[in-house]
Amino acid sequence: MPKEYTFLEMCGIAFIASLILFVLNRIFQLIYLCYLGPPMKQVDFPSKGQWAVVTGCTDGIGKQYAHELASRGCDIVLISRSMEKLEMTADELAKYGVTTKIIQADFTEGDEIYNKIEKELADLEIGTLVNNVGVSYTYPEFFLEIPDRTWYRWSKWSYDIASEMAVTQINPISKKLASRGCDIILISRSMEKLEMTAEELGAKYGVTTKIIQADFTEGEEVYDKIEKEIADLEIGTLVNNVGVSYTYPEFFLEIPDRNKTVDNIIKANCLPVTRMTSIVMPGMKKRGKGVIVNIGSASSMIPSPLLTVYAASKAYVDKFTEGINMEYSKHGIIVQCVLPGFVCSNMSGIRRSSFFAPTAKQFVRSAIRLVGTTSRTNGYLPHALFVKTLNAIYSLTGPFAIWLVTRSMENSRRKALKKKGKLEVSNA
Ligand SMILES: NC(=O)c1ccc[n+]([C@@H]2O[C@H](COP(=O)([O-])OP(=O)(O)OC[C@H]3O[C@@H](n4cnc5c(N)ncnc54)[C@H](OP(=O)(O)O)[C@@H]3O)[C@@H](O)[C@H]2O)c1
Repeated sequence: MPKEYTFLEMCGIAFIASLILFVLNRIFQLIYLCYLGPPMKQVDFPSKGQWAVVTGCTDGIGKQYAHELASRGCDIVLISRSMEKLEMTADELAKYGVTTKIIQADFTEGDEIYNKIEKELADLEIGTLVNNVGVSYTYPEFFLEIPDRTWYRWSKWSYDIASEMAVTQINPISKKLASRGCDIILISRSMEKLEMTAEELGAKYGVTTKIIQADFTEGEEVYDKIEKEIADLEIGTLVNNVGVSYTYPEFFLEIPDRNKTVDNIIKANCLPVTRMTSIVMPGMKKRGKGVIVNIGSASSMIPSPLLTVYAASKAYVDKFTEGINMEYSKHGIIVQCVLPGFVCSNMSGIRRSSFFAPTAKQFVRSAIRLVGTTSRTNGYLPHALFVKTLNAIYSLTGPFAIWLVTRSMENSRRKALKKKGKLEVSNA
C-alpha cells in the first residue's frame, strides 16, 4: 500500500525538489556558459576595434588575456611596470603575427602616468580594455600587522591621558557623542565651520574639543599631521564620516572635470577610512576596547547608475569594515558600517525632511543606538525598508528595477542641469 503524505509533507517534498532543480539548473547554466556556449555567441574582439589594451599584462591572468586576444587577431597595448617583462611578453605575442605596443607605467605613481598613457593611446582605435592590474598582500595578514605600513609608527605613541576622545567630521554625530560625555576631535577642511562646531559643543555639553584642519583630498602629509596632533590622546571612538559625492547624478563620461572629480571621490571616501583606522586602532587594540563607525552609503547596496564612482567607493567602506570587524572584534573593538539612504544635508541637497529623508539629527539619533548591536546597518528603519524593497524588486525583475532607478536618477540629473543652466544665465 503506497504511503499517504500529509499536506505539510508534500509541501516539504515540493520545496526540496524545487531547490534541487534550482541548483541543478544553475550548475547546468554554468557548464553551458563555460564550456558548451555556442561559438557564434562569442565576441569578435577585432571587430570592436583593432587594438586591445591590457593592464598588468606581464604575468598571470593579464598575460593570458593578452595571449587570448592576440590569438583572436587583436593588436595589443601592454601596460605594466617592468620594461624587461614587457619586452618578453611582446616577444611571446609575436607568434600570433599581431602588432604590440609597450607602455611602461607604475599605477601606484601619480597623475602623470595617466597623462602619459592617454597620449600614447591617442591615435589607436581601441576596441577592448582589460583592466587587470591589481596588487594584494603578500600573504594574509591582520590589518595592523601588515608589513611596511609606512604611515604607522608605533614607537611615537604614548597613552597617558585618561579621557575618552572621539574623532569625527560631522556636526550631528559630534553633537551626539558630546551629549554622551565624549571629548571631541573635529577634523574637516573649513576652519570657520570647525570653530563654530567646537564652540557649540563646548558651550552646550561642557566637553573639551580639539580642532584639526585637514583636507583629505590632499596627500600623505595630511595623515602625518593628524597622527602627530592626536599622538597623546586616548581615543575611544572613531567616526569615519568624511565623504564627497557628485554634485548631481551623472553618467560617468559626462561628469564635469571628470578625472579630478573621481580622484577626489576616491581619495576622500576610501583612503581616510583606512588611514584613520590605521592611526587610531593600535591604541584601541592595546587597551582592548574602542568603537569605530564607518559611514558608507545605501547606494553601494542597491543599483546606483549615475552615481557609479560614489557607490563603488562606498562599497570599499562596506567591505573594509566587514574585514576589520572580523579581524579585531575579538580585541574588544566594536566596528560598524552605517549605510544611510537620503539624509537632509549639503551633500544630498535635500532641505526638507520626509519619511525617507530624515534630518541629520534624526538619522544619527537612530543610528547611534545601533552601535554594538550589529556590524552593518542602514541606521534608520525607512532606509532599511527602502533597500530591502528595491533589492527584492531587483532580484524578481532586474531590468524593471534598473529602469526604475535609472529613470529616477535621470530625472534628478535633468532638474539639476536645468537649475545650473538657469543660474549660469542669470550670472551672465
Ligand atoms: N546625505 C546623504 O544623503 C548621505 C547618504 C548616504 C551616505 N552619506 C554619507 O554620510 C557622510 C556625511 O555626509 P553628509 O551628507 O553629512 O555630507 P556633508 O553635509 O557634505 O558633510 C561632509 C563633511 O565632511 C567634511 N569634508 C568634506 N570633504 C572633506 C575633505 N576633503 N577633507 C576633510 N573634510 C571634508 C565637510 O566639512 P568641510 O566642508 O569643513 O571640509 C563636512 O563636515 C558621507 O560619508 C556621505 O557619503 C550621506
